[in-house]
Amino acid sequence: MRGTAATGWTLLIVALLAAVLIVIGLYAWDTTARTAEAALRPPPVAPLAPSSQRPSLPLTPASPVAGTPAAAGELRAGDAAAGQRVFASQCNSCHPGANAGIGPAVYGPQFAERYPEDSLLVAVIRQGKGGMPGFSLDQLSEQDVANTVAYMRGLGSGAIAPEPTPTPRPRQRGG
Ligand code: HEC
Repeated sequence: MRGTAATGWTLLIVALLAAVLIVIGLYAWDTTARTAEAALRPPPVAPLAPSSQRPSLPLTPASPVAGTPAAAGELRAGDAAAGQRVFASQCNSCHPGANAGIGPAVYGPQFAERYPEDSLLVAVIRQGKGGMPGFSLDQLSEQDVANTVAYMRGLGSGAIAPEPTPTPRPRQRGG
């Protein structure tokens, strides 16, 4: 019986040694594979500059041909009258007559100070702000957005008269 026990121990030790060798082998193989893969990877790309540092885009005059696609990022010149119609259908629920409602008034000196560039207004309309949803290209075309901006600017410059704010219903005095 002693021989059998010795054989058992030998087998166990051999098995353990084999396991250790396999682990070392796998580790070496993995390290080599990682090094080889890293050598194939392209060098890292420099991060994009923040958008605020990009040069502002000049306004381009509206194309006489309706529906001509503007180049990406290009701002179209807007038509304030058309913008008023877009505004009435898309924005009035929260900015009644461009005045304060759920959202703030979208014209006036403070507004103009906060949004010195049209691209900032386009960004608010596209991305939304706080409780305001963003409007996708499906909802408002580039031209619609440009027209809406022209409308808000027209109100600011006095070229367009703002619609009167609806007078709040007088509160009933309890008594
Ligand atoms: C569901 C309500 C809602 C709709 C619809 C909506 N807005 Fe707004 N809007 C808001 C709210 C609320 C704010 C204020 C967000 C904040 O500052 O946190 C806001 C803010 C703005 C601002 C920035 C005002 C400022 O003083 O910073 C502009 C510009 C604006 N809206 C334009 C528009 C235009 C143009 C449309 C239509 C295309 C529109 N909004 C539709 C709710 C709305």
